[in-house]
Amino acid sequence: MEKIYVRGGNTLQGTIKIDGAKNSALPILAASLLTSGPNLFEDVPALEDVNTICQLLEQLGVEVSWLKPGTLRIDAAHINTCETPYELVRKMRASFLVMGPLLARNGRARVSLPGGCNIGTRPIDLHLKGFMALGAEVVMGHGYIEAMAPRLTGSRIYLDFPSVGATENIMMAATLAQGTTIIENAAAEPEIVDLANYLNAAGANVRGAGTSLIRITGVEALTGTNYTVIPDRIEAGTYIAAVAAAGGQVQLTNVVVDHLKPVIAKFEEVGVTILEQGDGLLVIGNKPLSATDVKTLPYPGFPTDMQAQITAVLTTARGISLVTETIFENRFMHVDELKRMNAKVKIDGRSAVIEGVPRLTGAQVNASDLRAGAALVIAGLAAEGVTEVGNIHHIDRGYHDLVGKLRALGADIWRE
Ligand code: UD1
Repeated sequence: MEKIYVRGGNTLQGTIKIDGAKNSALPILAASLLTSGPNLFEDVPALEDVNTICQLLEQLGVEVSWLKPGTLRIDAAHINTCETPYELVRKMRASFLVMGPLLARNGRARVSLPGGCNIGTRPIDLHLKGFMALGAEVVMGHGYIEAMAPRLTGSRIYLDFPSVGATENIMMAATLAQGTTIIENAAAEPEIVDLANYLNAAGANVRGAGTSLIRITGVEALTGTNYTVIPDRIEAGTYIAAVAAAGGQVQLTNVVVDHLKPVIAKFEEVGVTILEQGDGLLVIGNKPLSATDVKTLPYPGFPTDMQAQITAVLTTARGISLVTETIFENRFMHVDELKRMNAKVKIDGRSAVIEGVPRLTGAQVNASDLRAGAALVIAGLAAEGVTEVGNIHHIDRGYHDLVGKLRALGADIWRE
């Protein structure tokens, strides 16, 4: 099994272009199932999760081809089946995002119960409640969920929690429903806005994305279109964390600064200087790090997908930090690994209490999920000696060439 090795101590210098957002690309590619003509997507990141959704689409009969790196042509004129197999859905939870589009387009969808990152129970009850509110009959059995409705009908849906995936799935399903759907307490993440923009470009009528109330007026059909995916705010945040841990000066290009405001504010508190520069950021790590408190929240709060990375950074910040995870239970699996590197962290319920140490030490560690993997690499950049990160298939799901990009910035890092 391949591993990532990092010898800590080098500062980072140079420029990194941020890729298109994984968490936008996945729902947008799923949404292409609603369209009956060719789509051309730009800035699609080359990631394992993107390969998985492409395989899923192909298995449904969709034509998928990479025209060049980042440019994907998708033609969903013909869909052969409305069933998606366990082998593909178990690889990635976001596969469940095909359910809403398939149901809306074909009147029936049978999707295996999802798998994905090991960060809590992650139910799908809100997705299903939404489909039922739109008039679908939902049946569960043999590890599959089946939903049926000759045509969905618009409805008012209140989400108990602003789930990103449920908002997306219901929004996609509602685009072809008869009448108007209102989603209240909807998620407001930038990726929701990106999906709505794509759907509207394809002929849908979605209003209010980015606020807690989304109104979707159903249309008869959607067509293919050209669409460019927004930059990945979590990839950008991960490189900010890397500079915080290792020190140095790195320019990030292809960034929407607004999407990163909650992340920038926290890293500035920790002692990183972050300057806006055109479509990018200049990140300077030249001061000792200070402890801070972080609480993950739905957007525009601090993203749960940056919690592991900032936890890694805070292990060497002077003072006591408190990191509270409110989105997922069980998302502190990286903490035991960080402790193997000499970090002083105690878990108390949904919080991690971190007492900063002067230096981490390299050790053998394992990635338990995607962002945990990135956090261990970041810790390795700041540690004395070599850190050996195992289970790196998690990292490949969501970071394109993390090792190559960090090497280009001067890190002593390699895969073996
Ligand atoms: C998406 C992101 C993921 C991110 C998360 C939160 C994608 C592909 N993934 O995941 O990277 O960490 O948003 O920002 O975009 N919940 C329920 N019932 C449901 C659905 C969710 O209780 O039906 C709960 C979950 O267990 C979790 C919370 O809601 O505790 C947030 O989950 P959700 O926002 O749905 O995350 P995902 O869409 O799975």
